[in-house]
Amino acid sequence: MTKQAARPAKDERYANLIPMKELQFEKDRLFPFPIYEKLRKLSPVRYDKQRDCWDVFKYDDVQFILKNPKLFSSKRGIQAESILTMDPPKHTKLRALVNKSFTPKAVKQIETRIKDVTAFLLQEVRQKDTIDMIDDIAGPLPVIIIAEMLGAPIEDRHIIKTYSDVLVSGAKDSSDKAVDDMVQKRRDGHAFLSNYFRDILLKRRAHPKEDLITMLLQSEVDGEYLTEEQLLGFCILLLVAGNETTTNLIANAVRYITEDTAMQQQIRQNTDYIPNVIEETLRYYPPVQAIGRVAAEI
Ligand code: HEM
Repeated sequence: MTKQAARPAKDERYANLIPMKELQFEKDRLFPFPIYEKLRKLSPVRYDKQRDCWDVFKYDDVQFILKNPKLFSSKRGIQAESILTMDPPKHTKLRALVNKSFTPKAVKQIETRIKDVTAFLLQEVRQKDTIDMIDDIAGPLPVIIIAEMLGAPIEDRHIIKTYSDVLVSGAKDSSDKAVDDMVQKRRDGHAFLSNYFRDILLKRRAHPKEDLITMLLQSEVDGEYLTEEQLLGFCILLLVAGNETTTNLIANAVRYITEDTAMQQQIRQNTDYIPNVIEETLRYYPPVQAIGRVAAEI
């Protein structure tokens, strides 16, 4: 969590993108849980001078922060405004527009397509000697599905993925150069994707289709259509939010199944366990491990 203070804006806005000093080594970032456990015991709430922000490690405290948007705002301002960086009541209204597309019922409707794409990707890998879980399966699967949901042409998926990854990349370390590089890369990525989706918006305005972009174009909030900036923010958020998260979830689940041979055996014998394995991976080895808020009252 970042405090509002008279510091250079850069520090405030990017604090949660710089690794904590305890996680400066990649091996720790790949398996940070013993470190979190120690921090939870030693300093459940602590101020980190280097990143100029507060870190909160305990479940109840985190829950309190996330449930009190008036005290702890989502307005972090690193990217163009999107629902991710909005507070209620504006957040609630805009969020309602896309809720319908992500209900269990709506997701169930695309289940067959997700299975087909997975089967296709696995079929492709069969031609090779080895499988790279990220490049061959966990990376392409979410981007194909999200691109299709949005209405972006499937053949653009490589370029979409490249820029989507750029937008979630963190700084390599806490040096000014690393932070500046990250900021520049993110700006370029954002500019690219804005132009990309602006083109599709134009096409859908002229020829509506059954996709999320058309749905957003036709949506109204308080009797008004979304502005171009809001539309672009939505497209980019949906693309970026769903990509790396899902890739990491698949990768983390596969890592556990691969390493825990007893569990692997159980799952092979009874595939009904798979939904539980996914749920447990979300809890035990989650793709998102830190989220930021800005203290709105001092
Ligand atoms: C395993 C996969 C996923 C994980 C772990 C995950 C995690 C999260 C987390 C922790 C947040 C809250 C961030 C914050 O409040 O600061 C969030 C927000 C969001 N995610 Fe995901 N996500 C996943 C998949 C997806 C997918 C597939 C999509 C859509 C294609 C998506 C779209 C969004 C959107 C639109 C928000 C903003 C919601 C809001 O502010 O109300 N996410 N996600």
